[in-house]
Amino acid sequence: MNILLLGSGGREHALAWKLSKSKHCSKLFIAPGNPGTALCGDNVSIDLNDFSAVATFCKQNKIEIVVVGPEDPLVKGIYDFLQADPALQDLIVVGPSAHAAQLEGSKAFAKAFMQRNNIPTAAYREFTKENFEEGKSYIQQHSLPIVIKADGLAAGKGVVIAASHEEAIKTFEEMILDAKFGEASSKVVIEQFLQGIELSVFALTDGNEFVLLPEAKDYKRIGEGDRGLNTGGMGAVSPVPFAEGDFMVKVVEKIVKPTIVGLSKEKLVYNGFVFFGLINVEGEPFVIEYNCRMGDPETEVVMPRLASDLVELFICMHQHTLGQYKIQIDQRAAATVVLVSGGYPENFEKGKVISGLNSSFSDDTIVFHAGIKSSSDQLLTNGGRVAAVSSYGKNITEAVQTSVHAISQIQYEKMYFRTDIGYEFK
Ligand code: AMP
Ligand code: GLY
Repeated sequence: MNILLLGSGGREHALAWKLSKSKHCSKLFIAPGNPGTALCGDNVSIDLNDFSAVATFCKQNKIEIVVVGPEDPLVKGIYDFLQADPALQDLIVVGPSAHAAQLEGSKAFAKAFMQRNNIPTAAYREFTKENFEEGKSYIQQHSLPIVIKADGLAAGKGVVIAASHEEAIKTFEEMILDAKFGEASSKVVIEQFLQGIELSVFALTDGNEFVLLPEAKDYKRIGEGDRGLNTGGMGAVSPVPFAEGDFMVKVVEKIVKPTIVGLSKEKLVYNGFVFFGLINVEGEPFVIEYNCRMGDPETEVVMPRLASDLVELFICMHQHTLGQYKIQIDQRAAATVVLVSGGYPENFEKGKVISGLNSSFSDDTIVFHAGIKSSSDQLLTNGGRVAAVSSYGKNITEAVQTSVHAISQIQYEKMYFRTDIGYEFK
């Protein structure tokens, strides 16, 4: 089958790496891709938000599967656009409809969905300009800390955990009155703070049946010991040691199944990955957020641990047979350590020459490119997150050590990474 993958980050390199290994994959295109994805297939320069260009490319290249990496085109309706094209009736689009993608695109939509479907999540209220004053008094009498979320997509920056009522009100004002995140913060969700340990659970679904992929935990803070600013993700591990037994039974029974039943009952068209951002509060799982795509950097550990053929999974999704699918998982642990540009997530420079990416790493290591571009015969940094160095190990500690060892061969000016990924599980 000819496959088109949309996106250009570490997640997409990991997906491209996995797709290219499939016995069903004849030709893989990545739009726009990065120098890493170019090792797995052909990069094509299409803007992934130019849906007409994507549709034309699919027709010209007899594409049978489109895999959408990031959330933006999904929330903007790429699924619906491609499905509506009479010439693309047989195309399998991996991703939800725009309506279902509101599970990620609108926090208020996701919260209301969870409430209707009895899915455990933090207590909340939503506010706009219209009931702004009520929101302020709601915040005043709320217990601390208070979680304040811009309703729409805000590139991972729309969540503030305020330690005082003053900070909460200031944030609330900035979001609603000053439109800090534009339209995305014209509505704000105020919710209860949940104390616990987070994990990411992934399902592939056709909106009725599902399979669970390996779970993972990501590390969002820039500094060792989970200190400092939030980032797009500094590393991830899989499996998550506490994601087993009774806890996972609760995850499936109280969260995953009711979500899929909710999609079906509410006729939300969904053919793709559901990312459950969960928190374990004293043994009870709660949903922090839904995403309508795979996680980054979680994909860089989930794909290495997925032993099943990913294209076969997409075919089963299309044929509505995921319910019987026996997924194969590599029993080794995997960890990924993300290399970032010095200064990230604040100001950083791009265009630094990277050396050592083509070193001969151990067989247990895979280097996924993220913010990298090639220029003549050099590789240059091209973003905050530059690469994700993933390794297998007999346990998480060994996998992280192997990645850190591999990183000693890679260099660029002001390279930074965390050495303590998976620290709670050592
Ligand atoms: P979100 O964009 O909703 O995933 O939120 C970003 C991060 O904020 C999450 O990964 C959590 O670490 C944190 N967070 C969000 N909501 C809550 C909550 N209700 N309680 C505690 N932490 C939260
Ligand atoms: N790692 C979190 C995310 O992809 O949103």
